[in-house]
Amino acid sequence: MSSSEPHHGAPADGHSDLGHPGLGPFWDQTASGTIVHGDNLAVTATLPDASVRLIYLDPPFNTGRTQRRQSVTTTRNPDGARQGFGGASYDTVKGTLSRYDDRFEDYWAFLEPRLEEAWRVLDDRGTLYLHLDYREAHYAKVALDALFGRDCFLNELIWAYDYGAKSTRRWPAKHDTILVYVKNPATYYFDSTAVDREPYMAPGLVTPEKVARGKLPTDVWWHTIVTTSGRERTGYATQKPQGVLRRIVQASSAPGDLVLDFFAGSGTTGAVAGALGRRYLLVDSSADAVAIMHARLPEATVLAV
Ligand SMILES: C[S@@+](CC[C@H](N)C(=O)[O-])C[C@H]1O[C@@H](n2cnc3c(N)ncnc32)[C@H](O)[C@@H]1O
Repeated sequence: MSSSEPHHGAPADGHSDLGHPGLGPFWDQTASGTIVHGDNLAVTATLPDASVRLIYLDPPFNTGRTQRRQSVTTTRNPDGARQGFGGASYDTVKGTLSRYDDRFEDYWAFLEPRLEEAWRVLDDRGTLYLHLDYREAHYAKVALDALFGRDCFLNELIWAYDYGAKSTRRWPAKHDTILVYVKNPATYYFDSTAVDREPYMAPGLVTPEKVARGKLPTDVWWHTIVTTSGRERTGYATQKPQGVLRRIVQASSAPGDLVLDFFAGSGTTGAVAGALGRRYLLVDSSADAVAIMHARLPEATVLAV
């Protein structure tokens, strides 16, 4: 879908190959970590095209309340903007989804311009991870197929956990969905050798060597939530576990690459990216979130837009 030339070279070389000139007017390009307090649409608009290797987004879920409507629904490049987005077919898909569920229309009016920015700032080897709950995931997948292009869909990750109250009137819902889309299916970065391996479920069925090595995680990830007494706990209600982010950062970025999270909350993405030697840029519109991130990542530069 991208217009850029395919990248030739080993994807898992362990080195950044970004080499882009600095970031927008607000950032020191040498900074290893930056936290920005502001609306993510305004902040992402200052980033250059194709400047980010990995984006993880965990937006607030559509709970049925009307989200703040966003009037800007076009990209910054009105002439060539739809390039690679599926053009008219995207509008058709969006219109159909909105007819099924008007709450989706509100939610998507908020998310769409932000996801377009995500697409724009991803580099040719870049990947978007969009974390959603089961009430949104199916709509978002259809819309993202159209927005990125169907051939850019990489995975639907299921993060399964087992914690909290359980309904007895239906199967208790204990998973989130993370949709994974790449900017360019021919050139995207993915290093499975860098990912922490996990124990086999039936170790008796494989060789001792395999047991010792562990197995590569599949697209279903069992991982506990951040518990109230857990070591990672920051006090931020929607905080996600570092273990989930760790796999994402390990697989889809190399040391030195820039990782972006513009619904950053407590800064889990930055904590993991920093620990793994990646640069990070975190954005949140909540002053509470920025204060928590700053305490968690004291080395980061904090800016306001
Ligand atoms: C589900 S939380 C993210 C939690 C995060 N993944 C973590 O591990 O802590 C979503 C965040 O998006 C932020 N947010 C919502 N709308 C925003 C906007 N327009 N610009 C920037 N941040 C926004 C909220 O303040 C909230 O912190």
